[in-house]
Amino acid sequence: MTNNKELRPRALSLSSQFGYLPDSDRYLTARPQPKYRFNIIGTGIIGQEHINITHLEGRATVHGIYDPNPRSVETAQALHARWSQEPLVVYDSLEAACNAPEADAILICTPNYTHLEVLKVVVKSGKPILLEKPIATTVQDALEITKIAEAYPNVFQIGLQYRYKSISVEAIHEVLKRQTLGNVKLISMQEHRIPFLDKVNQWNKFSKFSGDSLIEKCCHYFDLMNLFAQSKPVRVYGSGGMAVNFKDFEYEGEKSDILDNAFVIIDYANGVRANFSLCMFAPMFYEELIVCGDEGRLRAWEQKTYLPHQDLESHMEIICGENKPSRTIQPAYPKWIEESGHNGATFFEHVYFVDNIEGKPTSTASAREGLWSVIVAAAAQESIKRGQVVIIDDYLAELNIQL
Ligand SMILES: NC(=O)c1ccc[n+]([C@@H]2O[C@H](COP(=O)([O-])OP(=O)(O)OC[C@H]3O[C@@H](n4cnc5c(N)ncnc54)[C@H](O)[C@@H]3O)[C@@H](O)[C@H]2O)c1
Repeated sequence: MTNNKELRPRALSLSSQFGYLPDSDRYLTARPQPKYRFNIIGTGIIGQEHINITHLEGRATVHGIYDPNPRSVETAQALHARWSQEPLVVYDSLEAACNAPEADAILICTPNYTHLEVLKVVVKSGKPILLEKPIATTVQDALEITKIAEAYPNVFQIGLQYRYKSISVEAIHEVLKRQTLGNVKLISMQEHRIPFLDKVNQWNKFSKFSGDSLIEKCCHYFDLMNLFAQSKPVRVYGSGGMAVNFKDFEYEGEKSDILDNAFVIIDYANGVRANFSLCMFAPMFYEELIVCGDEGRLRAWEQKTYLPHQDLESHMEIICGENKPSRTIQPAYPKWIEESGHNGATFFEHVYFVDNIEGKPTSTASAREGLWSVIVAAAAQESIKRGQVVIIDDYLAELNIQL
């Protein structure tokens, strides 16, 4: 990264086409010298995405990893070797990975149910932390993590990076900064996707390990809904079940027990109403956001259908009737950024993680926002179990939680 205004596209600096140039002749194509070294705890699917993107973003490199699964370690080593000639340090304990003086920051990419216990060790390092979402599998653990985060004297970033998808960035700008829609009244979000992927020890098929699907995956959407509502949820109603996926799935004699479809309705304290729908047996990835205000309506979506003529597609429309200009756009990042993972969102998560380390202003989600995304998801799951509306204040009182 450079402070110069001239365009120095990272894509050029990454291209092997310019490998013939002596380093002294690389100006426009010069790569930033990594200033920071990350240690990554857990190198499964998202740990690998973080390894790749750390190198891609360029201001940091990956120093070492800790993961008890040998295949995760081998995969991480192979991935790292594509980017760096420096060997990847493989630690034999979490403590060793956290306390290594060479590491400037720690990324926690382990399964949801391990976050609290892993974090308790990582915070002893005092180093900047990136903790994957959901911060925890229960509201109680999420609150404990929030308290740890708020008392932590260094950067504590959480993995709610869907805020940086190109459609989210544009929608947040229009709705919250430009206030194009006037006062927000209704929010609707949808995720239709393929079933949860295989994981090490299949932790995501069991609610006790993942927190269940609304906590595990949909915390991203509840975070966005809370953000657009600019208010606290007061009532949550959910209806959902296991209709198609993993009905016959057993692992070590235990049956899977996670939701694969749900509707959730949320009433916010300021009168905003929101709904969310989840379908995890769709042969595609489709995410949609609709926000209606008293001066206009915004609809944004992105999808990957894997059909031959369709790559990632995105769309955003803002219709303001006779009030002000309407428009439709196709928010996007350069292809190499979108292809690096989560349609570019994880790339910008890294940009902001390094910015946070450097003390620059960012809009990364706070641990408390992570807590509220878990509260909405947990209340929706509780509502599904009870078949009744869950009043947030009562629910928190039942859990003996005061915020
Ligand atoms: N932000 C996002 O969009 C996003 C996307 C995917 C996953 N995630 C989150 O990242 C975390 C990991 O998910 P995943 O999909 O990579 O799972 P995964 O099963 O693919 O990988 C998890 C890795 O952690 C390792 N591990 C387990 N316990 C460990 C421990 N105590 N210490 C060190 N390593 C340990 C496993 O061996 C495995 O290699 C979860 O919290 C998940 O919700 C976030």
